Amino acid sequence: MIDFFSAKNGILHAEDVPLTHLATEFGTPLYVYSQASIEYQFKTLSDALKKHLPADRQPLLCYACKANSNIAILSLLKSLGSGLEIVSEGELARGLKAGFEGQKIISTSFGKSKAEISACLDTDILQFNIECVDELNSISETAKAKNKQADVVFRINPDVAGGGHDKINTGRKEDKFGNNADKILELYKLAESLDNIQPVGVSVHIGSQVFNVQSFKPAFEKLAEIVKLLRSNGHEVRVLDIGGGFPIIYNDENNLDLDSYAQWVRDIILPLDVDIQMEPGRYMVGNAGVLLSRVEYIKTTDVRQFMVLDSGMNDLIRPALYESFHLIEAVEHRDAEIETYDVVGPICESGDIFAKNRQIQNVNAGDLVVFRSAGAYGYTMASNYNSRPLPAEVLVSGNQYKLINKRQSLDEMMARESIPEWVK
Ligand SMILES: Cc1ncc(COP(=O)(O)O)c(C=O)c1O
Repeated sequence: MIDFFSAKNGILHAEDVPLTHLATEFGTPLYVYSQASIEYQFKTLSDALKKHLPADRQPLLCYACKANSNIAILSLLKSLGSGLEIVSEGELARGLKAGFEGQKIISTSFGKSKAEISACLDTDILQFNIECVDELNSISETAKAKNKQADVVFRINPDVAGGGHDKINTGRKEDKFGNNADKILELYKLAESLDNIQPVGVSVHIGSQVFNVQSFKPAFEKLAEIVKLLRSNGHEVRVLDIGGGFPIIYNDENNLDLDSYAQWVRDIILPLDVDIQMEPGRYMVGNAGVLLSRVEYIKTTDVRQFMVLDSGMNDLIRPALYESFHLIEAVEHRDAEIETYDVVGPICESGDIFAKNRQIQNVNAGDLVVFRSAGAYGYTMASNYNSRPLPAEVLVSGNQYKLINKRQSLDEMMARESIPEWVK
């Protein structure tokens, strides 16, 4: 993997822009993204697919924008030829603002609201990926009322453990997602009987940060089994959505074996003669982003040395939520002595810890550090907890940079709140 964040003259840069410069101009905490990295990831995946699959059978890559939904990032991915996977009315609105056409958008949300279904139908999206009979009926009723037709795909549960953490596994029997073969058959039959609904295929997504590429194979085999079952019962299947879940490098993991992945698509999915869709999120943007933070204080106790940052779990919740690992590095003084720190945020929660006993260059109050691989599920999961305004985001391309999301002000943070007249 090419690293688009490297040190030049002793200072960590995003492409050709010193992170010190961005911190001075925009303040911290600050998410910084490398455009070249996103382009590289998109091309690497597309090239692997081109290598193993015929030109006229290339999957439609629908970027799962829950990973990073800034409209500049969405626009960039659109310009590369990506489609879009959305899970809410808000993500649809972002996709439309970024210029995606409805026929390149798929909705995979778990509990689709009426408003979301309605907005998706108004936009004539490509398809709805469906979880259960109530959701199917809800889409059918709304489509009928609008005199629209909806293509639907049913999500299978292959009973495969894929995700890199218990909380990001989605394809095991006990998970809330997907359906077994009997249920899929039932749903398909019902869908065919409904006016305004056209069942077109099935989908799978086994989890996120799927470290073991082998996990995709049994999921694909299960998909193939269900396609055969549906066809043998007289149903038409013309679409397979094979999900996302590709891992990125957080520490010293191996690169995903894209060749094996693409070969399984070729060997298991291609012979089914369907349109193939994929929903990669993290893979496109995860390694392309860092969270830039300033050291507020160093606090030493009898047993610990705490590096207290101006970023908290409200800015980057992954370590607190998933015990996830992010490399943390000094931006300057990179050859300083190595020290052991517990890296923590300023939030009033014992869980506001980014790393324990971590070896990092010696830093002092006022120095800058970065969290690497923070481009996915970073800003999109940020909150106002402890009444801390949302951080800003910057996109870098070569030596150019642009603020793509202004830091929230305190007034903006409180703008939607009001005090009832009976409260004095
Ligand atoms: C249905 C679906 N597709 C795609 C994704 C994207 O996963 P990843 O970012 O791991 O590629 C998710 C993530 O939760 C998902 O639920």
